[in-house]
Amino acid sequence: MPQAADAGRALPEPAQGRVRGLGLPRGELVGVVAAHGGLRAGVYGGDGPAALLGEGTLPRRGATVAGMVEHDALTVTRAAYDEAADLYARLFSDSLRDCPLDRAMLAAFAEAVGEGGRVADLGCGPGHVTGHLAGLGLDAFGVDASPAMIELARRDRPELRFEVGGMAALDLADGALDGVLSRWSVIHTPPAELPAVLAEFSRVLAPGGHLLIGFSATDGPSHPTQSFDHAVVTAYRWAPDHLAGLLRAEGLTETARLIREPGPDDRRPFQEVHLLARKA
Ligand SMILES: C[S@@+](CC[C@H](N)C(=O)[O-])C[C@H]1O[C@@H](n2cnc3c(N)ncnc32)[C@H](O)[C@@H]1O
Repeated sequence: MPQAADAGRALPEPAQGRVRGLGLPRGELVGVVAAHGGLRAGVYGGDGPAALLGEGTLPRRGATVAGMVEHDALTVTRAAYDEAADLYARLFSDSLRDCPLDRAMLAAFAEAVGEGGRVADLGCGPGHVTGHLAGLGLDAFGVDASPAMIELARRDRPELRFEVGGMAALDLADGALDGVLSRWSVIHTPPAELPAVLAEFSRVLAPGGHLLIGFSATDGPSHPTQSFDHAVVTAYRWAPDHLAGLLRAEGLTETARLIREPGPDDRRPFQEVHLLARKA
């Protein structure tokens, strides 16, 4: 069966109603089907009756198998956050109040982007941080995979725009944004799929645009990534230098980082990392 090692192989641009193989040996990844006007695509494997391994839409040329395999993880993440949305909103909607360092990095990000800059809060959850960014003078909107989260965000902040969407395939033009915020939203992205998500962040940023990404650190640089138990769904943490290297590979150069040591009352004994990067 194909594993994540197949991820990243570029798909041919699909044509409506056509079936195209990927040129892989039988028994591995055998086909991509694009059908109907929506260019839905499936990745099939196995040399008996084909088994559907992943399915998704190919919104643009250059979409990858990685993006489609991620779609499976995304389906699980979306369902889990739909289930948890009310509780999450109750627990965390006021959380910035007790996080002065988070607020400091958000303020630095807002100032770097500049008054009125167009910013997407990707994986915005119930929208409380999107609201905070708007309060800092940014033209902020939110995107999240979970429709339940987006419903809460729209209910609580009807003046702002919130859309359901996946971070690996954003419905935004190249260079459309001055800033991207990803605050603990890549933690559910399987490590093999992270480069594709970071590439998408880079694609939608204008030259000179800023990214602020928040995540939990691994136990040390000898662990580039580690998975951890998360109340909602499987999650991953990253060594800060490793993630900075992945960003660099996508044309995003680190400009600052803040590492907060875990406190005695923290739920998890992990360092929290806020990394600011700029697109060349
Ligand atoms: C831990 S919550 C963080 C929410 C918010 N950013 C915050 O700071 O409280 C993770 C959020 O990211 C969303 N998410 C995870 N993976 C995503 C993806 N690939 N595309 C869009 N949203 C995603 C989840 O639905 C969830 O709302």
